[in-house]
Amino acid sequence: MTPYMSEGFQIVAIDGGAASGKSSTARGVAGAAHFLHVDTGSHYRAVTLRALAEGLEPREGPALDRFLAGLRFESEVRGRCACIRLNDEVPARADIRSDAVNAAVSAFAALPAVREAVRAYQRDQAGVARQHGFKGLVMDGRDIGTVIFPDADLKVYLEADASTRAARRKEEGQTDTIDDRDRIDSTRATAPLAAAPDAVRIDNSNIPLEGVVDEVLRLLRERSAGARAEESPTQ
Ligand code: DC
Repeated sequence: MTPYMSEGFQIVAIDGGAASGKSSTARGVAGAAHFLHVDTGSHYRAVTLRALAEGLEPREGPALDRFLAGLRFESEVRGRCACIRLNDEVPARADIRSDAVNAAVSAFAALPAVREAVRAYQRDQAGVARQHGFKGLVMDGRDIGTVIFPDADLKVYLEADASTRAARRKEEGQTDTIDDRDRIDSTRATAPLAAAPDAVRIDNSNIPLEGVVDEVLRLLRERSAGARAEESPTQ
C-alpha cells in the first residue's frame, strides 16, 4: 500500500512527451474521479513567460537566481483544475502557449535551478487538493512518477506516434517543435523525461481519449482493490 492510499487519498502521475495526450487524459480522470488536476507543464511555461518578459536567457547564473528568488508560487483552484498563480497573476493560457514560450520552455525547464524552484510547489499540490476536499490528485508532466511523486498510487506513461502528435498540435492551432522539445526534455541531466520502471505504458495513437481515461480509471480501481486486499487479507 502506498502512503497516500492509506490516508484515503490517491495520487495519479501521468508522464509523457509533448502532445502525448497527458493533460487531456488527466482532465478526464479528474472529472470522473473527483480529483484535482495539475498540469505541471503550465508551471514551466509560466516561469518561462515571465523570464522572457524580463529579457533573461536560459542560463544558470546570478541573474536567473535573482529572478527565481523573486517568484511567489500559489494555486488558484478553478473547477477541478489548480492554475498556477505567479506573483499574484494567473497567466493567460494563450500567453503560456505562444510560439515564443513553446520555443524556449524546454531550455528553461532543463536548468536545475528552475526545477528546484518549482519542486516544493508541485509537491504541495497534494495538500491543495486535500484542503479543497478532492479525493485525489492527478498530475501530469515529465518527471511526476520519477521525481515529484515517486510513491504515487498509479503511474502512467503515455506515448503516441509522431504523426498523431503533430496532428494534435495542429488541431490546437499551435506551431510547436515537438521533436526538439522531446530531445531536450529526455536528454537533460536533471529530472529527464522518462517512464518510471513501475509505470503502465499506454500508446494512445489509436485509442480515443475516452478509452484512455477509462483505462486509467480501471487501473486505479484495480490498485484500490489490491490495496484493500492487502489491508485485510483473508485467512
Ligand atoms: O506539457 P507541456 O508541453 O506543456 O510542457 C512544457 C515544457 O515544460 C516541456 O517541454 C518540458 C517542461 N516540463 C518539464 O520539464 N517537466 C514537467 N514535469 C512538465 C513540463
